[in-house]
Amino acid sequence: MLPKLFSFTHFRKNASASPFVSHTFKTKDLKPFRITHFQKKGGSSASSGSFASSTSFTSLGRNPRVTNFEFHVSNFARSAAAHLPHAIIARRAGKSRESELRMTARILDGNAIRDQIFSELSAEIRQLAARGIRPGLAAVLAGDNPASKLYVNSKIAACAKLGLASFLLTPPATITTAELLSLVQELNRRDDVDGILVQVPLPPQVDSKRILDAVDPAKDVDGFHPYNVGHLVAGRPTLVPCTPAGVMEILRRSNIPLEGASAAVLGRSDIVGKPMALLLMHANATVTVCHSKTRDLPGVVRRADLVVAAMGRAGMVTPDYIRPGATVIDVGQIVVTDPAVAERLFANFPERLAKFRAKGSILAGDVHPDVAKVAGAYTPVPGGVGPLTIAMLMSNTVKAARLRRGADAARESGRPAEASAAAEAAIKR
Ligand code: GUN
Repeated sequence: MLPKLFSFTHFRKNASASPFVSHTFKTKDLKPFRITHFQKKGGSSASSGSFASSTSFTSLGRNPRVTNFEFHVSNFARSAAAHLPHAIIARRAGKSRESELRMTARILDGNAIRDQIFSELSAEIRQLAARGIRPGLAAVLAGDNPASKLYVNSKIAACAKLGLASFLLTPPATITTAELLSLVQELNRRDDVDGILVQVPLPPQVDSKRILDAVDPAKDVDGFHPYNVGHLVAGRPTLVPCTPAGVMEILRRSNIPLEGASAAVLGRSDIVGKPMALLLMHANATVTVCHSKTRDLPGVVRRADLVVAAMGRAGMVTPDYIRPGATVIDVGQIVVTDPAVAERLFANFPERLAKFRAKGSILAGDVHPDVAKVAGAYTPVPGGVGPLTIAMLMSNTVKAARLRRGADAARESGRPAEASAAAEAAIKR
């Protein structure tokens, strides 16, 4: 019979965070209990700079339900010091053996959060429909990049699901910058188009910056235009890039506290890393942006309560990067075809390995799946951040429609364009 699982959720400690004393925890599910842990010299995780300790659990309840736990903890000092409430699923140690108690992260389910957002958007779309407004998204897919095709098709399918209008434009890979510019300008003029997305990467002969700068900022549902980037930097309401906006939705809807938290963003791309860092900073987190030149990357990341991995390198963030109990958001989406890489990533996940062997490829994130044993909460791949990127694109399209058409109505009625601050940010004057 499998040992019973106990869930220690939303615990808070009422003692100071010294690693070598007792802490008393209150839990939702269990009697208060005390954890005492003792450092052992020469811990097993020397390479990650952590220590090994043995820990004993003593139930403080009159009718003890938890007794005689012992488990091996790496970096427990950091875990105990963490101010964040973490979900810890601990396995009851029937025989008090170290290996029998594990920490397993709470899964932050992107599909469920996407569904929640879709249902909220549906209500808003119905309200707009009652006013005769049907938001429309134009997607420009230039060339034959298979991954881009897949992404854009998903975006168009999401429009159909929500009842938004969509327009798919597929110019050939040979299109010139001038031709693409005139296509974008045409979309800027069209009144039935509220959102424009030009899927990147564009074919190499096209000047991508000129194309993205040509998109009307009021229709820039990707949030890539310098006008919108500037507003984001300044902390003004604006159209925000979809993936980092989606990460913020995951964090907010999962009650992950950000104020005062230390956050490490891995990757400094214009699409994810930079806007992600700005959004977290605006949420009062203390943000470190890490990149390929960061010294002692594991050490830096290990100090973070929240890790957002967006480097595009399969399984690079291994458990030794993660402070126990930290929240880990995996933005990576990499199709792995190399059997050696698949073996490295999924050695402890035989079902996924079997899937890889059957199919010859598998989707992986930037975070090694074993991180689930150390983190407090994490987004899986697939099913984590991915669904939110599309949800936020839909959300931005509806927002752009609302703001653009609202502002137009104000102009038409002769009133000053008294759009809200959000509208001012999103429309081009
Ligand atoms: N290519 C990869 N991600 C994105 C995205 O979010 N928007 C666009 N336009 N292109 C992408």
